[in-house]
Amino acid sequence: MPRDALSFTLNGQTVICEANGSALDVLRDRYGLCGPKYGCGMGQCGACTVLVDGQVARACVLRAARLQARSVVTLEGLAGADGLHPVQAAFVEKQGAQCGYCLNGMVMTAVALLERDPDVSRGEIRQALRDNLCRCGTHQEILDAVEHAARQMRLKAENVA
Ligand code: FES
Repeated sequence: MPRDALSFTLNGQTVICEANGSALDVLRDRYGLCGPKYGCGMGQCGACTVLVDGQVARACVLRAARLQARSVVTLEGLAGADGLHPVQAAFVEKQGAQCGYCLNGMVMTAVALLERDPDVSRGEIRQALRDNLCRCGTHQEILDAVEHAARQMRLKAENVA
């Protein structure tokens, strides 16, 4: 592996690439992943959100080199063999989008929240999503969707137990 190369896990696959630019550059330009969006480019809008080792990260301000040996999940990596992630399915069911530009960040942030603990109140969901901006004003539908996903994930956990 060249000295300036970077190796990390991307949506379950080990990848090796040059460690140039931001994580968002690498994900979109090198790997063609269009889930994470370029919005503000300053870490303030949330459109570029990905999960790094299960934690939300703003890919626009994260140097690609920081991904070394980490596990990155993008919107494209959420769905499994049994279909959409419950958060994705809930956004579809509750029509939690208008233009859709913020959707990646809303979904990824909600996934991180609910994977930690799906037993959350509407206030906790609102708090978790407070730094994800939506200019269309779809906030109520987004909150409805995340609440619905939380219910579905709790039910699933109860049925497995
Ligand atoms: Fe990264 Fe806005 S584009 S936070």
